Amino acid sequence: PVIYAITPTFARPVQKAELTRLAQTFLHVSNFHWIVVEDAPQKTALVSRFLETSGLIYTHLSVATPPNYKLGRNDPNWKKPRGVEQRNAALRWLRENLKLSNKGVVYFADDDNTYSVKLFHEMEKIQRVGVWPVGLVGGLMIEKPICDNVTNKVMGFNAAWKPDRPFPLDMAGFAINLELLLKHTDAWFSYDVQGGYQESEILRQIVTKDQLEPLADCCTKVYVWHTRTEPPQLNVEQMLIKKGKRSNAGIEV
Ligand code: UGA
Ligand code: MN
Repeated sequence: PVIYAITPTFARPVQKAELTRLAQTFLHVSNFHWIVVEDAPQKTALVSRFLETSGLIYTHLSVATPPNYKLGRNDPNWKKPRGVEQRNAALRWLRENLKLSNKGVVYFADDDNTYSVKLFHEMEKIQRVGVWPVGLVGGLMIEKPICDNVTNKVMGFNAAWKPDRPFPLDMAGFAINLELLLKHTDAWFSYDVQGGYQESEILRQIVTKDQLEPLADCCTKVYVWHTRTEPPQLNVEQMLIKKGKRSNAGIEV
């Protein structure tokens, strides 16, 4: 199968660093197609140039999050969901451009996480929806499906954060057979759900809990980490900008 990784991304000082880390992991994955969706009204020059020279097979899209759903500068990040508009644009692209004869797996790969190449090998085994542990998320070292090693079935989840979610998983903790997403043409992410329910929203429309396929050695291995990049301190840069100067004049960072 082709692995279609959908990455919402938005302009900020660390954006190119994030995309570079991802691209250099993805270059180690064969049969890989990166769908990068900018949270912007138009594709930016930075991301366009970045993708052109990345060496990856990619599709570049852009769609801005509507202003009423965009986080304010001082809003805590749990206030509004992120990536809804962008992931839906990617789902639309898949449905408009691929056929049921295209064999693939779809993964929602946020731009700030850390991915092991081993994760993508696991995805090749997926029939419907594969699930696995995610490191450093939900207030825990590891959030994971509980896998019965006799039946190799998902018996439950160890999540501590909103454990009553229908699928208490992070976005990084599952991937979906392309065919399922092409057949369920009305499955989308939504603004009309509680905070933290995006994963449950898409999954409940296409799969049941007993159909989940535990991967990564019956969910005993961590191949993806929900890392979050600290925003850099740019106080000196701000002072330069006030004086009409900048450290990176003519240089892309
Ligand atoms: C958690 C999950 O890991 C996300 O997959 C989920 O979308 C999010 O919660 C949620 O509940 O909406 P978290 O680390 O808090 O994630 O989210 P971010 O990494 O800040 O954002 C997820 C993705 O959306 C990233 O790829 C980010 O670049 C993108 N994003 C973020 C935008 O496209 N626009 C924004 O304004 C902010
Ligand atoms: Mn994140």
